[in-house]
Amino acid sequence: MLRSLDGEVALVTGASRGIGRAVALRLVRQGADLVVTARTEEDLSSLAKEVEGTGRKILVAPGDATKEQDVMGIVEKAREKFGKVDILVNNIGIGAYKPLVTTTVDQYDEMVAVNNRSTFLFTRFVVPLMIERRYGQIITISSASGIIGYANEAVYCSTKHAQVGMMEALDRELQPHNIKVCLVCPGSVNTYFALGEGRTKGDPVLLDMLEAEDVAEAVNFVAAQPWKSMITQVNLRPVAEAKY
Ligand SMILES: NC(=O)c1ccc[n+]([C@@H]2O[C@H](COP(=O)([O-])OP(=O)(O)OC[C@H]3O[C@@H](n4cnc5c(N)ncnc54)[C@H](OP(=O)(O)O)[C@@H]3O)[C@@H](O)[C@H]2O)c1
Repeated sequence: MLRSLDGEVALVTGASRGIGRAVALRLVRQGADLVVTARTEEDLSSLAKEVEGTGRKILVAPGDATKEQDVMGIVEKAREKFGKVDILVNNIGIGAYKPLVTTTVDQYDEMVAVNNRSTFLFTRFVVPLMIERRYGQIITISSASGIIGYANEAVYCSTKHAQVGMMEALDRELQPHNIKVCLVCPGSVNTYFALGEGRTKGDPVLLDMLEAEDVAEAVNFVAAQPWKSMITQVNLRPVAEAKY
């Protein structure tokens, strides 16, 4: 049976839209208070409006997740308001679907910074708060591309595989501190992210993809497990994935 997250604080990155926003709203329904971050303050504020009236507290903390000072500031604000972070959802990510030979060096650098540097920074600055209290759950949204290599996604796949490697190592490193680590690896999800080259709004193929809410259910399932149950990885893929 899932437990209530009443009294727990979840920091969700990339909460302005897509999977992050759906995760934030799902965790609120399970009883958690929230710290939400992304660059677009307006979108975070509209999320905060949705949470108003639920009785749950929410801290809007915008910033660029690739910048050390921004991430340190976000985690410090969370500590000041709540004194702790119980659940960290590393969700921020970008992708480019293209052959390696047309991928620019700037695109490579951006994907590594947004997908890997941000995961490192949030984890690096949140884990000390968890160690201090000997309590925490880290959930990182990697991808099916973090497990399988797909054509025309070489750089994206490499960043998502890197997240898997980091979290598998941290699983073993942080268990002695009573901190649980889990990877959630979705296949294609119908979000803004998926609307890159070759996928346009209105494309019927989007309807066969997972919805952000499907991924949010998986994240909530992990977060709300009885404490002594530790899920280390969830793989979810659309039934119609052969179409992509
Ligand atoms: N959609 C899929 O098909 C799919 C499949 C498997 C895995 N995933 C993974 O799921 C995660 C979420 O993807 P999504 O589909 O929800 O994408 P999305 O709709 O594009 O959302 C990405 C989020 O990341 C934030 N973000 C991007 N760059 C940032 C930066 N430098 N600093 C702070 N925030 C930043 C965006 O907010 P701002 O623009 O406001 O900063 C937004 O909230 C990613 O890690 C992705 O790799 C997606």
